Amino acid sequence: MDASSDTAPAAYGGFDTMPIAGRWRAGSTGKARADINPFTDETLLEIPQADADDVDQAYRAAAIAQEDWAAQPPSVRAGVMQAAAQILKARREEVIGWLIRESGSTRMKAGLECDVVFAGLQEAAIAAYRVEGRILLTDIPGKEGRAYRKPVGVVGVISPWNWPLQLTNRSVAPALAVGNGVVVKPASDTPVTGGLILAKIFEEAGLPDGLLSVVVGSGSDIGDTFSKHPVPRVLSFTGSTPVGRGVARAAADAEIIKRTELELGGNSPLVVLEDADIDYAVDAAIFGKFLHQGQICMITNRLIVADPVYDAFCERFGERARGLKAGDPNDPDTVIGPIINDDQVAHITTLIDGARRTGARELAGGEPQGRVIPPHVFADVTNDMDIAASEIFGPVAPIIRARDEEDALAIANDTEHGLSSAVFTQDLERGARFARRIQAGMAHVNDQPVNDIANNPFGGEKNSGLGRFGGEWAVDAFTTDQWVTLQHSRRAFPTDA
Ligand code: TAP
Repeated sequence: MDASSDTAPAAYGGFDTMPIAGRWRAGSTGKARADINPFTDETLLEIPQADADDVDQAYRAAAIAQEDWAAQPPSVRAGVMQAAAQILKARREEVIGWLIRESGSTRMKAGLECDVVFAGLQEAAIAAYRVEGRILLTDIPGKEGRAYRKPVGVVGVISPWNWPLQLTNRSVAPALAVGNGVVVKPASDTPVTGGLILAKIFEEAGLPDGLLSVVVGSGSDIGDTFSKHPVPRVLSFTGSTPVGRGVARAAADAEIIKRTELELGGNSPLVVLEDADIDYAVDAAIFGKFLHQGQICMITNRLIVADPVYDAFCERFGERARGLKAGDPNDPDTVIGPIINDDQVAHITTLIDGARRTGARELAGGEPQGRVIPPHVFADVTNDMDIAASEIFGPVAPIIRARDEEDALAIANDTEHGLSSAVFTQDLERGARFARRIQAGMAHVNDQPVNDIANNPFGGEKNSGLGRFGGEWAVDAFTTDQWVTLQHSRRAFPTDA
């Protein structure tokens, strides 16, 4: 996606209000929350927060608007997706600016995120045409069975702060494209990039009023109402495993039970076997560990390296990590920008302190400057140390020594998570055999775990969740089938006289 700054339209404004039931207005609590730039600590906005009644209005309006929207031909829904993609392209610099200021994204990551969302909008345009039914066979003479596929109605989307635009759009765009209404609850750290700016884009693209609402409010205040509301039939949640479990429980306890799509935490292993191209593996691991300061669900959480190449790998990886520029995310050379908030900084520094205390060998490090944590590398980590067992979500790389291939596999699988993974070897078929034994929804041979973000189906195993996204999986997630039968001729019943 090229930037087109010559023709850039006037920047969007009014982000101290939110689109609820077809109208941009302040949230009803009367209490504002500051939207903070994590690098400068500047307050970008004060946003009056939504309350439970706002959530109710948003869901009810979406249910009404959805009926007309679902009845539109697919070309109309696809047209809105295509228009939204072009608007994003024209506003690329504006959106990148927000991602840098609000989410602490580096320029590189913000550009990548825009590209992925652009691709997602284009794919959603195709999804509008993928809502297909089937003819089903039956053993009853004269009966015809049909499966009609239709939108579920209204989808509730709860998204995290780390890839806010992508992880919101990844559910919103296909859900709308196949004919649903949507209500979004963005993360409190990213209300603009996690929802409000996307709503502006869809509004400009011609999406009907009321079909998409965004309720800005904290999970602890409105999360339960959002998850238990009777209107949504599907909740699409992306975030941590404990909060995801709570959302699933709320959906099960709701007055009307609902489906949940859960994309949860990760602890992805990157395995380097003894026959790998070490320089290449180091390059890939640097990207796959430090992109967005390590705040990615699929990020390399543990590096597992076979004994014969362990020392060489550690030396080169440590040297490369020490050379990465940390600081201002707006500087195009910066690789490591700020951590999103003080709680996350405290979580990461606790893990760093623990690694030092439990005997890991520090190959790269340094003191945090504000919320910027310089790249840390620890060698001689064992899989039971907190630094390996926890989802780090920071620029910290634990390296674990494996005796051989079987030991590497056992270590890789010794985690509650199963999102993404990687293995490096110069024998592709050996890599494929290894990949198929890794307990993860995604496994890459000779590439790192944060892979082809635009096109991957993005699903986890074990405590990384249950969802699948992209392509036909997105259509499945946001539609439902109805079995309709037609009895063409009189049939015989067992009770006939
Ligand atoms: P969480 O703390 O789980 O928050 C995610 C979302 O849930 C936020 O919008 C949050 O709102 C909301 N929430 C909090 N409490 C809630 C409740 N009781 N009911 C309903 N919603 C509630 O995660 P995070 O810290 O934003 O994101 C990081 C985590 O997300 C990591 O574990 C990461 O691995 C995971 N993640 C997974 C994936 C995939 S694809 N598997 C992708 C990205 C991130 P507030 O912000 O208002 O609290």
